[in-house]
Amino acid sequence: MSSEFSGSYPIETRSGEIERLDIQGRAMAPDAEHMLDLIGVCDGWSCLDIGCGPGGITGLMSRRVGTEGRVVGLDMNAGFLDHARSGAAANTEFILGDAYGSQLPAASFDLVHMRFVASTAGDPERLLQEAKRLARPGGTIALQEPDGSTLNCYPLHPSWDKLKAALLGAFSGVGADLELARKLYHVVCKSGLSDVQYRPFIVGVRPMDAMVDYLPSTVQSLRATVLKLGLLDESEFPDVLAQCREHLARPGTAFTMYTVAQVWGRNI
Ligand SMILES: C[S@@+](CC[C@H](N)C(=O)[O-])C[C@H]1O[C@@H](n2cnc3c(N)ncnc32)[C@H](O)[C@@H]1O
Repeated sequence: MSSEFSGSYPIETRSGEIERLDIQGRAMAPDAEHMLDLIGVCDGWSCLDIGCGPGGITGLMSRRVGTEGRVVGLDMNAGFLDHARSGAAANTEFILGDAYGSQLPAASFDLVHMRFVASTAGDPERLLQEAKRLARPGGTIALQEPDGSTLNCYPLHPSWDKLKAALLGAFSGVGADLELARKLYHVVCKSGLSDVQYRPFIVGVRPMDAMVDYLPSTVQSLRATVLKLGLLDESEFPDVLAQCREHLARPGTAFTMYTVAQVWGRNI
């Protein structure tokens, strides 16, 4: 798959990956809604979610734009798109394509959005160029990207530290930038958008929350990269995952997620 598409996206399509992205999307939905409110997305808008995965924020967009509006989700993963199509409303379509160079017509969207694509697949400037091509003049381009340094758990536990180091090491080892949130406002301003807005947020997770398995399940989805880069031994991999899961299930344990920076601005 990766040879046909640009970037260096390192996350594997294992079973469980759709569920991992769905759970993540639900936990981040209130903040995504808030951003869409501030942007002013409403009836009749035409919206694009680049790198939408199994759905991304297309469902939230679809409800806002109504029957007069239109939503397109674009991704390189056909399996993700099949899943996204299965629950989609009539105003939404999903297209297989390259985030860095799609076949979609220029200047055809009121809103072009990407979440966790620039940080994981790399080259934010090139993604922004494609987003600027696709948004109409005066349209909005919005990105949401993480800062993994705020992944912190209390009480502390060595298995958490090992998995956090494996996660951050795997991404940086393939040229991804899990700290892109810190630079995102600067990068978007430099791309030439006007009226650029900046809204960071952070989600907290307890044992009873759906996101509780975020760190173990994401490291599982990065298994090949983690082993190739020697960030964990194959022999210790299952034990570290099990110990971390046990720790995160203990009453009174809580962690903070990566900080997400939402940055959006208008296409000139
Ligand atoms: C971390 S996932 C995020 C999915 C979704 N945006 C969300 O927030 O739930 C990143 C997505 O970007 C897609 N992706 C990575 N590189 C891509 C490329 N060159 N073209 C199209 N999609 C790409 C992956 O297939 C994956 O679905």
